[in-house]
Amino acid sequence: MELPNYVSEIKNFLVESGFPSSVDSVVILGSGLGDFSDTIENSFSIDYIQIPHFPAPSVQGHSGKLFYGKVAGKDVIAFSGRFHHYEGYSFSKTVLPVHLANLFSAKKIIISNAAGAINTNFKVGDLMVIDDVFRFFHSVPILPSNSFRYNLYPVADRMRKIAAESGLDIQRGTYMYVKGPNYESKAEIRAFRILGADVVGMSTVPELIESSRLGLKAAAISLVTNMAAGVSKGKLDHSEVKEAAEKRKEDFAILVSSIIEKL
Ligand code: HPA
Repeated sequence: MELPNYVSEIKNFLVESGFPSSVDSVVILGSGLGDFSDTIENSFSIDYIQIPHFPAPSVQGHSGKLFYGKVAGKDVIAFSGRFHHYEGYSFSKTVLPVHLANLFSAKKIIISNAAGAINTNFKVGDLMVIDDVFRFFHSVPILPSNSFRYNLYPVADRMRKIAAESGLDIQRGTYMYVKGPNYESKAEIRAFRILGADVVGMSTVPELIESSRLGLKAAAISLVTNMAAGVSKGKLDHSEVKEAAEKRKEDFAILVSSIIEKL
């Protein structure tokens, strides 16, 4: 399937720099979740700015390093720092990790993010497996295809079992994609709840759509870093993201490692 030309140039650069030519899994680490890279054994990393055609992330909590190493005995590439559409990147740059996963013949991609909870039964620090998505007012055009087929349910079922085997109790639900970068209004969040969304965030859906187009198995996890606008009192700000991620970083690492091992 067609990929932008620069993707193979990036792969060649990475292989010349010591990456293997195929890996088992690719992981995208969402805001504040970059500490997962400590879990990667025998790892080495390259700064995004040294890699040709790589955008440099501008968001706090995203370090901008590409890691290679072993998790649960398997070869893994991890993106510590993601590319958001709201930063001005085209959708095709936003899904660069998916394109690289495809060229490195990865068996699966694990996509994580920080999200705000709309569901009032959720709390800050909850981990949620995404089993469906909602693109509110924003179509997400990627490369030409009219066969976007989300098939997250079987993967979500499996991920909950894998989490339970590791002693983790995780939520499951629908992710509402908004473009950002501004947070939502209270009225929008009330509406999103009526529409059936459980969490809201500004990423992940482009990557999921492109994974679906390329036939790559995708697993998506949200960490609830705040209650969405109007769900609890107080102002939303980015420091909450880091705080919640800090508290759950061990569980997040256990979850992602066991998904790499078993999914
Ligand atoms: N809204 C949108 N994106 C987010 C939020 C939120 O409340 N929290 C973390 N990412």
